[in-house]
Amino acid sequence: MTQSLFITFEGPEGSGKSTQIKLLNNYLTSRGIETVITREPGGTPAGDRIRSVLLDKDGGSLEPETELFLMLAQRCEHLRKIILPALNAGKVVLCDRYFDSSMAYQGFARGLMLDKVRSIHQAFLPGFLPDVTVLLRIPPEKGLIRARHGGQKQLDRIESETLAFHQKVLDGYNAVAAEEPERYIVVEAEGEPEEISKKIIVELKNRCQELF
Ligand code: TMP
Repeated sequence: MTQSLFITFEGPEGSGKSTQIKLLNNYLTSRGIETVITREPGGTPAGDRIRSVLLDKDGGSLEPETELFLMLAQRCEHLRKIILPALNAGKVVLCDRYFDSSMAYQGFARGLMLDKVRSIHQAFLPGFLPDVTVLLRIPPEKGLIRARHGGQKQLDRIESETLAFHQKVLDGYNAVAAEEPERYIVVEAEGEPEEISKKIIVELKNRCQELF
């Protein structure tokens, strides 16, 4: 079956995006649907290098604008080289973070303004948006505990920001989701992953009947 669809997963740190992507991928592939799983920042060789610059703590601080432009640079590579070719081949693309992360983190939490981030995206990316965006909502204090994986994982440069910053990220997501309810599926991310996955699949079935 070939039916392209671009689905992104968004949320604060520790919201369980990768688990939900795996569960949805299992569901789709068991129905013979071809998928591509990818992520941002990253997804291409250059994008993975840019990811290191963005997330390594050793490099010191980055100016908010530098952070935004690096996010957009890796997205340009990712969109042209991975996402669009997969969609043109009729695949379902499951992407861990995309445009809405730049809106919530750089536009809202870093204070660069949502309208400016949107207009750069429209000018250069060029405004290419997902068919569906799943927002997994979790209070930042709970998400950050999950992101530490019981203390086994060192937090990266952005994860190490203050709780107030991460609260702004969640506020930013709420603001962008409210602007585009037709694109967004908003799910509370606390609870059993399988139950959360079922809710996402029900919502996707309502919106994308031709695929399911
Ligand atoms: P993750 O891949 O582990 O979820 O984390 C990537 C980090 O990069 C996360 O802190 C969010 C951040 N990020 C942005 O700030 N802006 C963006 O546009 C993207 C794609 C990610």
